[in-house]
Amino acid sequence: MHLRAKGDLSLRRELAPLLQAHAPFERVPEAVRSRLGLADPATLADVAVPAGSDSGHQFTNGWFQGAAKSVWDDLVPQIDPTRILEIGSFEGASSCYLIDTLATRKDIEIHCIDTWEGGVENAADGWSPANMSDVEQRFLDNIRLSVDRAPHKVDVHLHKGRSDLALCKLLAEGRQGYFDFIYVDGSHQAPDVLCDAVLAFRLLRENGVIAFDDYLWKEPLPYGVDPIRCPKPAIDAFTNLYCRKISIISAPLYQLYVRKLCE
Ligand SMILES: C[S@@+](CC[C@H](N)C(=O)[O-])C[C@H]1O[C@@H](n2cnc3c(N)ncnc32)[C@H](O)[C@@H]1O
Repeated sequence: MHLRAKGDLSLRRELAPLLQAHAPFERVPEAVRSRLGLADPATLADVAVPAGSDSGHQFTNGWFQGAAKSVWDDLVPQIDPTRILEIGSFEGASSCYLIDTLATRKDIEIHCIDTWEGGVENAADGWSPANMSDVEQRFLDNIRLSVDRAPHKVDVHLHKGRSDLALCKLLAEGRQGYFDFIYVDGSHQAPDVLCDAVLAFRLLRENGVIAFDDYLWKEPLPYGVDPIRCPKPAIDAFTNLYCRKISIISAPLYQLYVRKLCE
């Protein structure tokens, strides 16, 4: 579905302001969809220029560019994390952004958790099918490119497997309160997101930040929205139950950013 539009980078750049003005996973307006030849369902993130277009990386989508980059450009230098944990890496767009941004100035440590099996959305009959072996190989190539270019040392730890098990293993190794910044972008199923949030909180240091991707994401299902297949109910449950231990960082809403105040 994305291939015809992907070639047309100049048109995508022209349309980039749409991403600033609308939630990135809102449906593309009909006029734009037909101009780009995108099949339905197409979202504004599908229109984003894939991050690697200018950097030599191989990214097949603009998810990170569309949903995160404009906020991260301000937020990440403020947090200035050294120890980073990412749940859900896919082709490495967000990891490469963090390496490219932070390892220009200092050594960093980054842990990437992914099954590289994809979520339900990446299955052959899902709304964003992907060959996950190819995705994993692109992740490895992209990370290698960023690490090799970085002026400072990047200590990369790959955890291939389910996030619940990988997070428990990190805790069992004694990494409570270890990370400065945790990006939760793995499974989009509410029960999985809740589990990731609770375990991530234990792994985060005081004053550290968790970024939840896809707070407003809704899976385009033929029968409408299924709240159990969305991250938002889980993120809301987490922020409600942990309200005395966290503060919400004010930022444009598509992702949600949470600072840990105390254990
Ligand atoms: C939306 S993608 C991550 C995108 C990436 N952060 C980026 O910016 O390009 C979600 C990833 O989570 C992984 N995933 C889904 N469920 C998972 C689980 N239970 N444990 C670990 N990884 C999972 C998928 O394999 C997929 O690669």
